[in-house]
Amino acid sequence: MTLWGGRFSSNAADAMAALSRSVHFDWRLAPYDIVSSKAHCRNLVKSKVLSASEGKKIENALDLLRKDIAKGLITPSIHDEDLHGVIERVLGDRIGELAGKLRAGRSRNDQIATDLRLYLRDASGDLVSHLLKLIESFIKQAKKYDHAYASGFTHLQHAQPIVFGHELAKHAHALLRDVERLEQWWSRTGVSPLGAGALAGSVLSANPEASAKALNFESSSGNSIDAVSDRDFAAEFLFITAMIGIHLSRIGEEWILWSSSEFGWAKLDDAYSTGSSIMPQKKNPDVAELARGKSGRLVGNLTALLVVLKGLPFAYNRDLQEDKEPVFDSIDTLMLLLPAIIGMVESTEFDEKRMLSGATSGFALATEVADYLVRKGLPFAKAHEISGKAVALAEQKNLGLEELTLGDYQSLNKLFAEDVFKALTVEAAVASRKSRGGTAPAALVMQLSELGTLVSAAKRANTKRVAALAKIWGEVETGIKRGTRNTRRGGV
Ligand code: ARG
Repeated sequence: MTLWGGRFSSNAADAMAALSRSVHFDWRLAPYDIVSSKAHCRNLVKSKVLSASEGKKIENALDLLRKDIAKGLITPSIHDEDLHGVIERVLGDRIGELAGKLRAGRSRNDQIATDLRLYLRDASGDLVSHLLKLIESFIKQAKKYDHAYASGFTHLQHAQPIVFGHELAKHAHALLRDVERLEQWWSRTGVSPLGAGALAGSVLSANPEASAKALNFESSSGNSIDAVSDRDFAAEFLFITAMIGIHLSRIGEEWILWSSSEFGWAKLDDAYSTGSSIMPQKKNPDVAELARGKSGRLVGNLTALLVVLKGLPFAYNRDLQEDKEPVFDSIDTLMLLLPAIIGMVESTEFDEKRMLSGATSGFALATEVADYLVRKGLPFAKAHEISGKAVALAEQKNLGLEELTLGDYQSLNKLFAEDVFKALTVEAAVASRKSRGGTAPAALVMQLSELGTLVSAAKRANTKRVAALAKIWGEVETGIKRGTRNTRRGGV
């Protein structure tokens, strides 16, 4: 059903109705629409548009409706334009004309903006908990490899030796920034559009603050026109999900490289790799590749919404209906991807011997030679030049820097003494970088403990937010609110 038509003398053309229809994707917002309808209903009782008993009757019907939707007992029909239409139609079947009274004092414009905010706030809790699990997987793996040495790269060329746990732990930092972004997004998204009506505010339901409180928003909107036009929260959410996608893609790229036979560092678990239909020997890093590939759609979804918003006049325009599919797709994509990435990261085994064997190749200890001379009093620029000469000499002799003789070194500079060879080991090079954030095992212990503290704090804060949001479902049993959340896999 449509929620308009009084002034029209003919029905919408099939092509018009098909274009207008959003119920096949907005139906997943139904639980959120119902809960905000309950808040609106209470407002209508307060402003005496509804009697107390009418209000009660509507609220009970809404509660039942939500349960039935979660059980899959109610599905949109081909004649329904959007989720609001389905809900009013089914309410009408159940409580008659009273259902039409609920429409007083609000518009689909403030409703849909409220629904989407609630949905995203709810989804952000799941997203944060998945991210924190992934961060924990990295911390766990970093602890396991806290004394494994490998080459670190710049320009994808051997640069300096590092502890492999340090290499893994860097991802925890990037992902923690994503968690932090979601936390900050949460507070900016705490503004309720309900009560803005079509655009100018509502006469019949005059207590937007009460609805805001009931729906766990921090406040109601300070401007009704902004309330119905603002989709910053959706765009910002899409930026965050795109950024997460970029991080997962970069993780994926490393896993792809590390599991190649040229690197031979990573051994993928059978459960997180695939084979080839023609080459029996193949074991492919598909999780990592799909992470890299799906980041494309996550970035695309952000771009899609920004382009919809660009130049759009304020207040509601139907273009805004295009906000939902990108947002849903990004959430679905990450909910699919994150568990697989977590499994991949947790189950990968690294070949410590192989990593160590490459740790000094490519003259990765050249900086140690330069630092050694600096400690002997030489300016770094000079030391850099001499170290470069040592590299050229070693290259010419087809040796590693640690394999040159003291005579070789002294031919380049008299400051070299026997102790230079002490500096020219992977262990010494790594251990000397022990200041905060450095790669030394001692610094890594500190780093992992700091990360652990941050993860615990983020977990507590997320649990608190999720619990506060759960209150909006009131007395109806928990666990049914997400009945229509993931519709991509076999829903409407
Ligand atoms: N389906 C619409 C959307 O998602 C709901 C709001 C419709 N408002 C309107 N004035 N036609 O944006």
